[in-house]
Amino acid sequence: MQPDLTFHRARRRRLLQTLGEGVLILATAPEAIRNRDAHYPYRFDSHFYYLTGFPEPEAVLVLIAAGHSNARPRQILFCREKNEEREIWDGFRYGPKAAKAAFGFDAAYPIAELDKRLPGLLENQTRLAYPFGADPAWDTRVMGWINTVRSKARAGVSAPATLTDAHALIDPMRLVKDEHEIELMQRAADLSAAGHRAALAACRPGKGEWEIEGALLGAFRQGGCQAPAYTPIVAGGANACVLHYVSNDQVLRDGDLLLIDAAGEYHGYAADITRTFPVNGRFSGPQQDAYEIVLAAQAAAIDAARPGNGWNAPHEAALRVLTQGLVDLKILAGDLDNLLEKEAYKPWYMHRTGHWLGLDVHDAGEYKQPGGAWRTLEPGMALTVEPGLYLRPGPQVPAALENIGIRIEDDVVVTAAGPRVLTAGAPKTIEDIEEAMHGD
Ligand code: GLY
Ligand code: MN
Ligand code: MN
Repeated sequence: MQPDLTFHRARRRRLLQTLGEGVLILATAPEAIRNRDAHYPYRFDSHFYYLTGFPEPEAVLVLIAAGHSNARPRQILFCREKNEEREIWDGFRYGPKAAKAAFGFDAAYPIAELDKRLPGLLENQTRLAYPFGADPAWDTRVMGWINTVRSKARAGVSAPATLTDAHALIDPMRLVKDEHEIELMQRAADLSAAGHRAALAACRPGKGEWEIEGALLGAFRQGGCQAPAYTPIVAGGANACVLHYVSNDQVLRDGDLLLIDAAGEYHGYAADITRTFPVNGRFSGPQQDAYEIVLAAQAAAIDAARPGNGWNAPHEAALRVLTQGLVDLKILAGDLDNLLEKEAYKPWYMHRTGHWLGLDVHDAGEYKQPGGAWRTLEPGMALTVEPGLYLRPGPQVPAALENIGIRIEDDVVVTAAGPRVLTAGAPKTIEDIEEAMHGD
């Protein structure tokens, strides 16, 4: 499935309406050196890609709204020129002419003409929207263009007086996914779930965490993901209690659990899946007790991901089940409401239950409304639901539960008909996991 550019054009039109008047400037991400002359794999800027679908580096989007007296709305792309020699070494580039046609712009110019053309495009405009503060080098360049326009004041030319954060205009759009985005997210989720199934099949005592990581990454790529959506966590035993464990260099032991937080990116869209299962394919009694608590917390949290509920409703639902579970495991004692009030769960559940998901794994969009209340969930919003329990050794943790770390994470789209789980292809009930590992 390829990006459908009619959706990108529709997004630019909507953004122009929101902008009302003035100019918006948005650059894509730079290429990044890994070491000496070796680069990291290139990844475009998410805001830029959301609006353009244009995948190359060294590109800038300029949108001009209709509000200005003699302007008509214009959508302009600056990009690299065709270059036969560079294309022999580095591969295809569109060049302005082909990019204009293929990506639906009104005009496209060589990126080398940016400094020459931009001051003219800013003349007599009232407003400039640009992601101020995101990149100091671009900040300097943009302020240079504004100052060039200001220097013409005595000739009667005015510079934009209102400076607006472009991300603040785009983030609310990205928060509610359109139908095309949800299709791409479902594909990212399906391919990522296939990776988790490959990991289940590959897992046994004596294997290295890195081998399971290899099975995951291989499956993501073979399925058609362009990249992992984030660095995989493959954490056996006590490593699962380290929230951002990424060294993935230990040998898996019989009797331990394995926590995997890994997913792929498909045409820019991230999935984000965590599964926890026994290295030897059978949950012990204490592992099962703890697992069922996290699974029940997740079910309650997913059920709360409904239109009209506040952003925090899934978190609150998970906290209630997890805290009762900690009482049942004899780690906590006392009245449930009182324990929740005191945040008594914090030593064993210290993170939130989810985040927005989309082009970025921790996606764009505010969690609170301007007055401070949690944002209300609406159809089309996409979020993760990822409760966990991390039972590091300590005076309150019974010996049988020590070093058990469990997280279960799914990706959910809020719909009028209720929560839609995108990541159901990754087994998560005890029965399904044991069956996947043993075939019984
Ligand atoms: N994998 C990143 C997260 O779960 O937030
Ligand atoms: Mn997550
Ligand atoms: Mn995750």
